[in-house]
Amino acid sequence: MTDQFSFTVAATDGPARTGEIRMPRGVIRTPAFMPVGTAGTVKAMYPEQVKALGADVVLGNTYHLMLRPGAERVARLGGLHAMMQWPYPILTDSGGFQVMSLAGLRKLDETGVRFQSHLDGSTHLLSPERSIEIQGLLGSDIQMQLDECVRLPAPESAIESAMRLSLRWAERCRIAFGEQPGKAMFGIVQGGDIPALRVESARALVDLDLKGYAVGGLAVGEPQATMLAMIETVEPHLPTHKPRYLMGVGTPDDIVQAVSRGIDMFDCVMPTRAGRHGMVYTRHGRLNLRNARFSEDNAPLDPESTCPAANLYSKAYLHHLVRAGEILGMMLLTWNNLSYYQDLMAGLRAAIAAGRLQDFIGETHEGWRKAER
Ligand code: GUN
Repeated sequence: MTDQFSFTVAATDGPARTGEIRMPRGVIRTPAFMPVGTAGTVKAMYPEQVKALGADVVLGNTYHLMLRPGAERVARLGGLHAMMQWPYPILTDSGGFQVMSLAGLRKLDETGVRFQSHLDGSTHLLSPERSIEIQGLLGSDIQMQLDECVRLPAPESAIESAMRLSLRWAERCRIAFGEQPGKAMFGIVQGGDIPALRVESARALVDLDLKGYAVGGLAVGEPQATMLAMIETVEPHLPTHKPRYLMGVGTPDDIVQAVSRGIDMFDCVMPTRAGRHGMVYTRHGRLNLRNARFSEDNAPLDPESTCPAANLYSKAYLHHLVRAGEILGMMLLTWNNLSYYQDLMAGLRAAIAAGRLQDFIGETHEGWRKAER
C-alpha cells in the first residue's frame, strides 16, 4: 500500500468519473458512499459487516467525539481506528455543521465557534486550529476544514459572509494541518444558492491547492433542482484530478444525479437513520415496513440481493420486529439499507467504466417506479 495520498480517475462518462483514492489505510473506490459513524460506530452495524458490504471509508464526527469520549482520550486509547476496530480510512467532519444543528447556545466569530454541549451544557471553543488538532488526535485520514454552513433560504449577505469566513478558516486549517503524507485535508465550497458566490468560493479554495474539495451547504432546505444547479456551477472550477465530495447527501436519486454531474464521494445518515425508523431502500424503491400491508407478506425484501437482511427474512418478520421495537429490526433494516446504497455505488462505478451511465440511471429509475407504495 502506498504511503501517499493519491487520486486517479480510471474512466469518465460525461462529467461522471470512476477511480480510486489510495492512502496508507486502504483504497477508496469512487464514486464512494461513506456510512456515517458519528460517535465511533455505524449505528446497529458491526465494522466487519460495513466493510463486507463494500464500504471503503466511514465518516466520524469531530463534534460528537470531542464531547464524548473526548479527543485526547481517543488518542490515549490508540485512536479511532483502533477503538472502532476499523483499520480502513476514516473521514471526519470538522464540527461546525454539527455545532449549528445540535449544540445549545453558540456564538460564532472570526476565532471560531463557542458553544454549549448538547450533552451536559459545558462550554467549548472550536477554532479552525482546534478542529484540525482534534481530527489529528482522532487519527482521521481525511480531515475537513472548519466552515460555516448556512441553511437555505437565507439572505445573500448571510450566505456571502459565511462563505468568506469559511475561506479564511480554510487557510488557517491548511496551515494547522501542514504536510501530512498519506493524509488529506479537504476544503469546503460554500456560497448557498448564489452561483457567483459558489464560483468565487471554489476558485479561492483551488488556489489553496488542497488534496480534495467538498461541496457543502447543500441539502439544507433547497429543492433538488437548486442543489444540482449548484453542483453544475461549481464542477467546472474544480480540478479533474482531485476528489469531490458532496457533504450530507443524500437520497439514492440525489446520489445518482450528483454522480452524473461529477461528484466522487458522499455521506448521509439516511440509510442508517431510516433503518432505525422502519424505512427500507430497495431496488424497487423505498418502503415503510411499519405499514400494516406487510404484516403477512412472507416474501423477502429482495431475493436477488446478496445481503441476508434482504434475501432471507420475510417482510412480515421485519414488520413485526419494527412494530415490536426490537433491536434486531434496526440491525437488519440498517444492514439492508447500507447494502442497497453500496450496491448502488458499485453499479454506478461499473456503469461509468462501461460508458453506460445514462442507461444505468434509466434502469435504476425504472426499478424505483415498481415500488409498491
Ligand atoms: N455536512 C453536510 N453539509 C455540510 C457542510 O456544509 N459543512 C460541513 N462541515 N459538514 C456538512
